[in-house]
Amino acid sequence: MTGPDVDPSPEPECADGSYDATARIVDPSIEGDEERVEAALRPRRLSEFPGQPRVREQLALVLEAARRRGAPPDHILLSGPPGLGKTTLAMITAAELEAPIRITSGPAIQHAGDLASILSSLTEGEVLFLDEIHRMSRPAEEMLYLAMEDFRVDIIVGKGPGATAIPLELAPFTVVGATTRAGLLPAPLRDRFGFTGHLDFYDTRDLETILVRSAGLLGIEEDAAGIHEIARRSRGTPRIANRLLRRVRDWAQVHGSHIVDLGAAEAALALFDVDERGLDRLDRAVLEALCSRFAGGPVGLSTLAVAVGEESDTVETVAEPYLVREGYMLRTPRGRMATARTWEHLGLRPPASTAAGLQQALPIEDPALPQQGD
Ligand SMILES: Nc1ncnc2c1ncn2[C@@H]1O[C@H](COP(=O)(O)OP(=O)(O)OP(=O)(O)O)[C@@H](O)[C@H]1O
Ligand SMILES: [Mg+2]
Repeated sequence: MTGPDVDPSPEPECADGSYDATARIVDPSIEGDEERVEAALRPRRLSEFPGQPRVREQLALVLEAARRRGAPPDHILLSGPPGLGKTTLAMITAAELEAPIRITSGPAIQHAGDLASILSSLTEGEVLFLDEIHRMSRPAEEMLYLAMEDFRVDIIVGKGPGATAIPLELAPFTVVGATTRAGLLPAPLRDRFGFTGHLDFYDTRDLETILVRSAGLLGIEEDAAGIHEIARRSRGTPRIANRLLRRVRDWAQVHGSHIVDLGAAEAALALFDVDERGLDRLDRAVLEALCSRFAGGPVGLSTLAVAVGEESDTVETVAEPYLVREGYMLRTPRGRMATARTWEHLGLRPPASTAAGLQQALPIEDPALPQQGD
């Protein structure tokens, strides 16, 4: 961290000649590198994709049937928390169909016209990957679901009472939509998807398979205990597993052994604030706020988010799904609540009134489908 007396100049060299580490950390190329490594680690075919057996089997069937019919498959929606493989599966879908893929995202489509020009340029059988599909504008959404159903868009020419709609035929294509918030998709759009794959957190065994493969690709020497420790503490998420693998590799390199073993994993994970159960800094901040500041809840999402200095959306899509699934938090009609497990994990004792309340709280939402609002 830069001390308050240090000039926050973008130069890595400080006035006193010492090296200012923070100036380097904000360098955007670092994120670019991480993204490049991530892309390199994506499995390319369904047969190389470990985990998610149900979704994999369903998708394999949908794609195989389409291949045999010689027609594009139904539209596919992939939902689930960040880092579980939605983008990877979208790429795999195109690869399995041997079809070209066009990649865009909800926030990139501001106007219906942006979507119309993409749709009208698609070739027959092309895969249109729409990431963060829940963030598309309403007019674009409406145009999309008409296009998905009838392979047609109406181009509006002119303005006001004189405006006319000219229908434009489209070549048959397949939309692969990805979302961390399936609950936010309007029903008419959701209904246009013939297949929805819900990705769930991975178990430790599958993460071990993923890590061994990644280590092979990155030329990292590892042993079973080291891989197991990383897998166990990766929040059920391949992206996190791969990232932690690289940090443990860094640790091993700097400390001379060059092997990702148990000692290196334990030391590096402690250094990067990943606790015994795999919870990271944000997870713990949320739980600590919930217990220490709100006496275990119930507390509204936005209040909780302010308490940890994060956006509600980040708390809801990044931290909560895993915390809820692992029983560290409940989402009730009255707000977020701690569980007996939360208090125990933080080494705290629940107030007597909260302990009684823990018995009555019932979870109401599917963590895989976060709902809007508190
Ligand atoms: N089943 C898997 N096997 C191997 N690697 C995987 C698997 N799933 C995901 N990954 C790896 O995890 C990383 C993140 O995956 P991906 O980008 O597909 O996640 P995502 O669900 O699209 O996340 P987001 O919601 O943030 O866009 C990628 O580097 C990918 O290589
Ligand atoms: Mg993605």
